[in-house]
Amino acid sequence: AATATVPQRLLAWYDRHARRLPWRSPPGTPPADPYRVWLSEVMLQQTTVAAVAPRFARLLARWPSVAALAAAPLDDVLHEWAGLGYYARARNLHACAQAVAAAGGFPDTEAGLRALPGVGDYTAAAIASIAFGRRAVVVDGNVERVVARLFALEQPLPGARPTIRRLTDTITPDLRAGDFAQGMMDLGATICTPRAPACALCPLREGCAGFASGRPEAYPVKPPR
Ligand code: ADE
Repeated sequence: AATATVPQRLLAWYDRHARRLPWRSPPGTPPADPYRVWLSEVMLQQTTVAAVAPRFARLLARWPSVAALAAAPLDDVLHEWAGLGYYARARNLHACAQAVAAAGGFPDTEAGLRALPGVGDYTAAAIASIAFGRRAVVVDGNVERVVARLFALEQPLPGARPTIRRLTDTITPDLRAGDFAQGMMDLGATICTPRAPACALCPLREGCAGFASGRPEAYPVKPPR
């Protein structure tokens, strides 16, 4: 029986299977520098992990600190951003770097982070948990799918989003919330995939209502069209 709780099983899985991504610190080690976490989360807002990885490394090599990025001419930042799309993100990136450099560092609360240019609810929660170890409810597309399946949510998207948020809150642990969030993202990206999820390999299979239904891929339910 699945005696361990959802966060315990997810974190144990993450300890073994975390994707080694260039902006991460390995599971169980001290959190990555907030600058790296912020930079990666902004880059990942509308761009895939595969596309971001090499560009993240280049950006970080060119501007190794938030102060260095803040001091760069905006034109250089826009040129470095070429091909990543959504150029408003690059402008916000530069504005945010200047605000953070002027303040002497990143805010370490979700509310403080949310006040920065280009940082929305998702990004503030991600940085607060991943960089500062704070408990925050982090819901991206992957997490949404994992949670909708875990609870076999019959309510279609997008109406189900507040429910998904509430359910994610109920399974988010007080400790290691950043590893938990990134573990949920990795589970969604590698096992609990949109089509043909690999339930045989899933640490959350026991107690997963979507698996029990025999049609895990039916969740989250699509909006009627
Ligand atoms: N997508 C957005 N943030 C991510 C992260 N920290 N790890 C993997 N995928 C992500």
